[in-house]
Amino acid sequence: MKTFYLTTPIYYVNDKPHIGHAYTTILADVLTRFHRNTGEDVFFLTGLDEHGQKVQQAAEKRGVDPQKHCNEMAPRFLELWENLHIQNDDFIRTTEKRHVDVVQHILQKVYDKGDIYEDVYEGLYSVSEERFITEKEAKSGEFRDIKELKEKNYFFRMSNYQQTLIDHIKNNSGFIQPEHRKNEVLGFLKQPLEDLCISRPKSRLGWGIELPFDSDYVTYVWFDALINYITAPGYNVNEENFNKYWPANYHLIGKDILTTHSVYWPTMLMSANIPLPQAIFAHGWWLIGESKMSKSLGNVVDPLGLIEEYGVDSVRYYLMREMVLGQDASFTIESFIKRYNSDLANDFGNLLSRVSNLLKKFFDGKIPQDEDDSAEGLDVKSKAVETVAMVWEKIEVMRVNEAIEITLQFVRSINKYLETKAPWKLAKEEPEIAGKVLFTAVEALRVSAVLLSPIMPNRTQTVLETLGATESGLDWGGLTSGIEIKLHDPLFPRIDIKKLENSVKNHGEKKELKNVITFDEFQNIELKTAKILKVEKVDGTDKLLKLQIKVGDKQRQIVSGIAQFYSPEELVGKMIVVVTNLKPATIFGIKSNGMLLAAKNGKALTLMTIEGKKVSSGMRIY
Ligand code: ME8
Ligand code: MG
Repeated sequence: MKTFYLTTPIYYVNDKPHIGHAYTTILADVLTRFHRNTGEDVFFLTGLDEHGQKVQQAAEKRGVDPQKHCNEMAPRFLELWENLHIQNDDFIRTTEKRHVDVVQHILQKVYDKGDIYEDVYEGLYSVSEERFITEKEAKSGEFRDIKELKEKNYFFRMSNYQQTLIDHIKNNSGFIQPEHRKNEVLGFLKQPLEDLCISRPKSRLGWGIELPFDSDYVTYVWFDALINYITAPGYNVNEENFNKYWPANYHLIGKDILTTHSVYWPTMLMSANIPLPQAIFAHGWWLIGESKMSKSLGNVVDPLGLIEEYGVDSVRYYLMREMVLGQDASFTIESFIKRYNSDLANDFGNLLSRVSNLLKKFFDGKIPQDEDDSAEGLDVKSKAVETVAMVWEKIEVMRVNEAIEITLQFVRSINKYLETKAPWKLAKEEPEIAGKVLFTAVEALRVSAVLLSPIMPNRTQTVLETLGATESGLDWGGLTSGIEIKLHDPLFPRIDIKKLENSVKNHGEKKELKNVITFDEFQNIELKTAKILKVEKVDGTDKLLKLQIKVGDKQRQIVSGIAQFYSPEELVGKMIVVVTNLKPATIFGIKSNGMLLAAKNGKALTLMTIEGKKVSSGMRIY
């Protein structure tokens, strides 16, 4: 039997999982479900990376010991995988004994071979990256927490395997995928490869697996973590199982950990005389809008929240449909909802409700007898067969988004077929033909549900339950005539995009009009009518006038910069508008208590006056 062994990275337990972790794990789940459906013997591994400085620091921050921290964080990942309907076959944690044993076994084996040696290292160390870095790297600004270190350590002779690795990559074109990542690694290997420091003194960093040949040291977290891929299938313990699955078909990773997987790991395996994995596939980043997701930017998307709001299958669908494997993709709620409404609500969900309504209305809710043998009917049938073949081809070359698009094109063609044939019109005159058309449409829907089941295991199950075809496969003809279809909820109720757009728009408007004021704030500004009693020029300036005004039965003085526009004489007796609750100020040594209003446009200024028989001074203006 053909086997298919696929791994995800084992995630650091320093924090709770985010959408990036969810993505890789869903992708692995989708791929392994496809392979399982073709009858392959699948082994799907995921797990947690529990050693090293990052985890130790996270534990310290929380004030718990590292093992306790790991034990408390692990369930968060397990819970998320369950909520995302992940069907992994094993879940490895690097603090498990089975793993510690294998790591120590490999360390001893590589040491005995002479590939591990002791040396004093003096140089720069990046705490955030947990490794020694070069001067050039230190200057690049990409590394944080850099300090100078001088200490005895153990080194792995990675340099010994440089040429063998280059040859292997060149002779096995699929070893590093996609192609541009392979070129990146080959570029990196043009420089002489340095040996890898694989130890950390316990005095500096205690949280790790002890070196079997020096108990003062623990092993570097990457030397420990990568080995998980051989621990799980049973290296050195269950040789039969190990040989069945190893070498892995794919190590699925993000592009951030390409070097560790395609340089450190293969050379470690070469030294330990273990065959290399068949392929390493590095996907791109999920960006949040335009930016990288990061805790400090506060834009980390919580997968649990999304599932709760929109359902697990639509989250899986969106992530798989929207990312071109190998490239970066941008996550936005707007594109999520657009995708949901067009593909899931309109195309796929709508097809089920259409056919089930028609069956109920015209055929007592039962699957009709025969398929449509007209040209259009046969066309749907041959499209189904073609689609199944094309989808599988795409999955085999890791083009998941294209596989989905091909399936959706098929779904759209079924909707179109229904519109062309209009079985609701045929039902009265030619019920037999209407039945055939519906049979063909329902059968085609069934095939597309099976095709989409690795992506959306939950909702496609509802479709198959409705059609009484849960056990059916990809071959045409899986429906049973005469079966009564079941009731179902709408598969993907439309999301009201207007509501969303409004909330986005309101949000945008608020941003634009940052200085809008509320009605209450406006009410706080006291505007009143005032009568000008007396006006004088202010000595030492040709701009200012000093006005005595009457507001109701009170008199006050204001200073105003209107001397160039009005002479004192023409102002006396005018009824103007004044802000009366402005904080008093001293202008040119003269007290000013309030401010008059005027319309101004460049060099023109006109005082705001108010006229009318009923106008008296001291009236409040609203
Ligand atoms: O690196 N977009 O663990 P980690 C897509 N423990 N994928 C993302 C992502 C994003 N924005 N952010 C994270 C480690 N990922 C090591 C691995 S393996 C022997 C040890 C995914 O918790 C992606 O798969 O930092 C990436 O490679 C992985 O999470 C890193 O997870
Ligand atoms: Mg990381």
